[in-house]
Order: sequence, then C-alpha cells, then structure tokens
Amino acid sequence: MRKSIVLIFFIVASIILCGNAQEQSNIKNNQTKTWWKEAIVYQLYPRSFKDSDGDGVGDLKGIISKLDYLKSLGIDAVWLNPIFSSPNDDNGYDISDYRNIMKEFGSMKDFEELLAGLHKRKIKLVLDMVLNHSSDEHEWFKQAKSSRTNPYRNYYHWWPEEKGKPTPRYSFFDVNNDAWKYEAETKSYYLHYFSQKQPDLNWENEKLRNEVYDMMKFWLDKGIDGLRMDAFQYVSKDTTWKKYPDGYEKDIIKYYGMGPNLHNYLKEMNKSVISKYNVMTVAEGAGSTLEDAHSLVDEDRHELNMAYHFEIMDIGNDPKGYKLSDLKKAFTKWDYSFANKGWLAIFLGNHDVPRMVSKYGDDSQQFRAYSSKLLTTLIMTMRGTPFYFNGDELGMSNIKFNNIDDYRDIATVNGYKTAKAKREDLKAFLDKQKFISRDNTRTPLQWDASANAGFSTGKPWIKVNPNYKTVNVATEEKNPFSELSYFKKIVALRKSQPVFVYGDYKVYDIENQDVYCFTRVDGNDKVLVILNFTKKDLSYTIDKNINTVNAKLLINNYEGMNAIDNNTVKLKAWQSLAFKIHQP
Ligand code: NOJ
Repeated sequence: MRKSIVLIFFIVASIILCGNAQEQSNIKNNQTKTWWKEAIVYQLYPRSFKDSDGDGVGDLKGIISKLDYLKSLGIDAVWLNPIFSSPNDDNGYDISDYRNIMKEFGSMKDFEELLAGLHKRKIKLVLDMVLNHSSDEHEWFKQAKSSRTNPYRNYYHWWPEEKGKPTPRYSFFDVNNDAWKYEAETKSYYLHYFSQKQPDLNWENEKLRNEVYDMMKFWLDKGIDGLRMDAFQYVSKDTTWKKYPDGYEKDIIKYYGMGPNLHNYLKEMNKSVISKYNVMTVAEGAGSTLEDAHSLVDEDRHELNMAYHFEIMDIGNDPKGYKLSDLKKAFTKWDYSFANKGWLAIFLGNHDVPRMVSKYGDDSQQFRAYSSKLLTTLIMTMRGTPFYFNGDELGMSNIKFNNIDDYRDIATVNGYKTAKAKREDLKAFLDKQKFISRDNTRTPLQWDASANAGFSTGKPWIKVNPNYKTVNVATEEKNPFSELSYFKKIVALRKSQPVFVYGDYKVYDIENQDVYCFTRVDGNDKVLVILNFTKKDLSYTIDKNINTVNAKLLINNYEGMNAIDNNTVKLKAWQSLAFKIHQP
C-alpha cells in the first residue's frame, strides 16, 4: 500500500515537473506557435472608415459594407477603436455605457452582424477596453458625484475640499493641465488624467473591478477575440498622493505608469476573465523600461500577452527629421530583449500619431508611394505582430490643416487654448500640429474619387484629405503597382513565410544613416531585408558575413532592381527589397 502511494506520488510529481520543463523550454525560444503571434492586425478607426447613413460619421453598417474589402487585404484581425456609448469628448475614449454601442455607430444588432461577418471571413475582432477612466456622463459618475455617501462614490478618486488644495497632478488634455476638477455639489475634486470629461476609475475598489470584469465577460461571451487595454499602465494610482518633483510631467510614464497594484489587478483580471478565453490581450503603453514591458506580458507572468510600447512613436516627432540609427536602435533594442520571452506589437502608425508616411517617410508627390511601401515592408518583415493603421495601405498622408477651426481632436483644440492662455507663439503651435496632430491620421478613408472620397454622402465630421482624387481604394485596386496592391502582396508574403513571424532578427550596419539592413533567420529559413531610407539613389555594400550568392528576390517596391554584385546593390530612392538567402 505504502509503495503504491509513493509510486503515485512520483508519477504525479514527474508529470508536474515535465509540464513545467515544457513550459520553461517554450518560454525560452519564443517559438510557441500562437494565432496572435501569426496574425496581422488591421486597426480600423470606425469614425472615419465608412458612413452608411449620410450623417458624416463612420458607422458599423459602413464597416459591414466593406467586409469584402477587409477580406481582400489578407489581414487576420481587426482592432476597432472604441465603439461604445460615448459623448465623444475624446472620440469614444470617454465611455458612458460599456455595454452599449455609440448611437452614431449603430446598434447591438449591427455589432453582432459585424462580428458574424468578420468571423465568416475568418477575421478576428479585437475591441478597445478603456478602463483607466469612464465618461463623466457614465451613470457611475453621475451617481458618484451626487453625494459623498453614494454607493458609487468610490468608483472614482476624490479629494475633499477640507483637505485643502490637492497635490498637483498633470492632465494630458486639460487646458490648464490640471488633473483635479472641483465639483461644487460635494465640495470635492475628482481626478482626471485625461480630459475633465474622463474621470479616472478607482481600481482600488474591488466592487468596481468586479463590475469591469463582468463587463469584459459580456463582450468576450459574444465571441470577440481580443482586447486592447487602453492606457492600462495608469490604472493603479499612488493613493498617498505624494508630491512629484518639478518637471515630472516630462517623464510622465515613470510617475503615472506601473503603479503599486497594477500587477495584482492584472493577475486578478487574468485569473477571473482572460485565462478563460483564447484571446489576444494587448498592453497599450508598457511602462518606461524593457523590464516593465516584460513584467506585463511574459508568458510566466499570467497577465497580458503583447506589449505595445511607445519608444518608436517617440522618434520622428521633429519636423526637421530623425536619425535613422535612432529608429534602428529602438527596434533592435526591443527585439533583442524580446527574442526569448514575451511578445511585441509592431507598428508605425495609429490614431494617436501622424500618418506614418509623413512622419517616417517622405510624403512629397515624388516619393510618397515608394516611401510608404518601404515602411509597410519594415512593419511586415519585423518580428512581432503587425498592427497596421487603416489608410496606410493606400499611402494616405497628413492633411496639414492651416486653421485651428478644422481640428476636432481635444489634444489639439485644448492645446491651442493652453498656448493662447500662455501667450505662446500660435503660428508655431499650428505649424507643429501640421506635423504631429492626431487629426492628421483621423481623416476619412479614401474610397474613390467621388465627393468626400466616397466616405459619406453627408458632410464628413472632419475634412477629407484633398489628395483623395488619386490616393483612393478604387484607383489603387486597378493598379498592380499601387501601394494597396503592394500591401496585399507583402501580407500574402508574410503569411506564406513563417520566418517573418518566428525568425530571429539581426541588424547589420546599425550606424548607417541611409540604409536599414537586417536578417530574419529560423533554422534554414533565412531572409535579408534592405531598406533605403533616403531620396537618393545609392550603392549599398551588404555585410560580408551575409552570403548573397543565389539570393532570391521575394519582394521589391520598384518594378526592377540591379543584381547584387559582389555583395553590393544599387538602390533607388526609398527602395525596399527582401530576399531569401542561404547564409548566415
Ligand atoms: C490612448 C488612446 O489611444 C487615445 O486615443 C486616448 O486619447 C487616450 N488613451 C485616453 O483614453
């Protein structure tokens, strides 16, 4: 009897140990095959995608009418920016009802039809979870502000007047950059890291957390496939409200991000919600260090599964340009750190930054198309899950408004008021917005050369980029060499070559300011990528350790190329090439 108990003990122990060893080895080589590592995610900005009812605002029915377009791209998943009820102070990032659809966008029935239509086409759906704050028009906040004893009071952060002025906190969108707003009704201030209409939720409150988890299950049970966690790094506050040093706002993530209980909340959320579904979970913002990012997404942490960090986004914000080596170093630093553990999202554009071609490429008439294809090549050949912003497949560029009245984004509109109040140079402010405003990227998707680019029969909520007559889906679909055709080609290439997903990345010649050259290697599967980031034709000598004999061209953003001669290749302006190679 004793013997058999010992035997059973050994069998159970070895099963557990083997399981752990298996997990350990998976963690080590980052090769565990997972759908979300292999997916290409298309970010769709619903407000600007397609309007079906002529009110000038994109909607769910509009997206439904373009499902075949999405399918034609070859992408695997769509991330929708928030579609929930919202007064739209920050274009849906201020949610007034987490379980309903924004009126302008349609109904729950439309949502269900959209989800079914995507799934029918084997496209997954990722929703945007805005959980750091709600709208001030959310029922929770209306209750909370009605009295100090209301049961919802602790769903938010309050500072009672009798404690004196609150410790200063910086707000991103407030005209005075003051994150505390006074509420006369209960003689208290409430906290809002973003706009006054975006009060921060109090994650210290278990009741709030459970309510949020239930809401997440509500959407997951409908069959969605992923969650993009908006600004989640900020949810855990230091509720001792200590004073931060002067100038802390210049390094805001260090102070606001990765608060004391963040990991506890994520572990709890993982246990009660995420672990029950096979979903992709994306950490928008990933702290201020590589270690922070790992702590959020490494497999053995059981928190989230993909880091969407901001370091690349922080490069290229000066209209005068950027150093290519800085971009290469940022990509390389993150890739090397995530080579064995954790997983990254790869992107150059989204709804919070300018159009990628205007920022990292060259949006002049001569080079817009080539440089946009080159940037697409970079995204599609890097390790990590590509997050590709709608319209970039057409080579859409910054609209560069001249007038403050054309802007809709709270960041620019309130930023202008701040600059005015501080008597700053308003022309300089507007010049800068032409380059960096988020509205540059939020203009309507350009479907064809008809009025309003075929986006809406009504007046669009934001102006259409005048280049729509030539930069549009209908025109580009007919041209086999267009940006759109190139996008479909490179998506198909990535899908056909697993080395682009799982292969190790290695950079060469990192200090070169003109050319980005790297390899991806997965066993015998090897590719070489060469990108000329300049408007010059040039001759580039490939590292001698790379054997280019019998290199086979996989993709080229020009119609022709010069043969590689003795490891030297002649590149046209903004030319991008990828080859299958044999060594190293
Ligand atoms: C990040 C979102 O991407 C951005 O658009 C929004 O303004 C802030 N979070 C606040 O929710």
